[in-house]
Amino acid sequence: MGLMSGKKGVIFGVANDRSIAWGIAKALHNEGAAIAFTYLNEVFEKRVRPLAESIGADLILRCDVSKDSEIEDVFSEVEQKWGALDFIVHSVAYAGREELKQPFHKTSREGFKIALEISAYSLVAVTRAALPLMKNGGSVITLTYLGSQRAIPNYNVMGVAKAALEATVRYLALDLGERGVRVNAISAGPIRTLAASAISNMSEIFGIMESRSPMHRSVTQDEVGKSALYLLSDLSSGVTGDVHFVDTGYNIVGL
Ligand SMILES: NC(=O)c1ccc[n+]([C@@H]2O[C@H](COP(=O)([O-])OP(=O)(O)OC[C@H]3O[C@@H](n4cnc5c(N)ncnc54)[C@H](O)[C@@H]3O)[C@@H](O)[C@H]2O)c1
Repeated sequence: MGLMSGKKGVIFGVANDRSIAWGIAKALHNEGAAIAFTYLNEVFEKRVRPLAESIGADLILRCDVSKDSEIEDVFSEVEQKWGALDFIVHSVAYAGREELKQPFHKTSREGFKIALEISAYSLVAVTRAALPLMKNGGSVITLTYLGSQRAIPNYNVMGVAKAALEATVRYLALDLGERGVRVNAISAGPIRTLAASAISNMSEIFGIMESRSPMHRSVTQDEVGKSALYLLSDLSSGVTGDVHFVDTGYNIVGL
């Protein structure tokens, strides 16, 4: 019997085997969870489908989180197949490449709107759509980064979006606590993924982690997976509205 035996959930945000969401999927699968996966579009489907099938998933669904109809379709498929749901992993973010390259004060109205919509509002939309299926309570997690609280060069509008995301976690947690639905965020240290490749000074960031973080390295996808397991299982039954750092302690360092 694993920690997640009998539990069913949907993971949004696997792009390839380096995705943080894939690290979380592996940790949940090892503990017996049944997992449905979503992919952004056909381009991503080619990578996601074989990965999902390799751990026995048969619900592999298209979902662009900027489209309410695609979010609704995911949960109606899940309802037909499973009838109920225990967890959601939201591991989705997007900002236009130009917004991450040019100085922050040049952020466009449209670029700001898109980053906030895909990276923060989508947590509200997905959680709302999942709620009717969380009949016995549930656990929702999202992924955030320290750039929400500190100004980090080049993170730009994504930092603003992560600040909104973390506030969204708190408001959802307050709203849904009485239904037994918990909502938390993991603030991960830097990991080399497709999304991270949009940040131009990643090598510099890794160098700083090595020299300044208490553990003198960054985290792995599997370490984020293990912490996600805690937040998605009954081990964290008294925890909601939290932003939990999985960053080898970098956030506590002053200099
Ligand atoms: N890699 C890091 O260093 C790091 C650190 C802290 C937090 N995070 C966060 O972790 C999460 C996952 O990112 P990752 O690093 O694993 O990269 P990733 O590129 O593997 O994952 C990002 C995912 O977002 C999806 N996505 C983008 N726009 C979408 C849309 N409109 N609809 C549906 N899906 C969409 C992509 O398809 C992809 O699967 C993000 O929220 C990211 O900000 C990453």
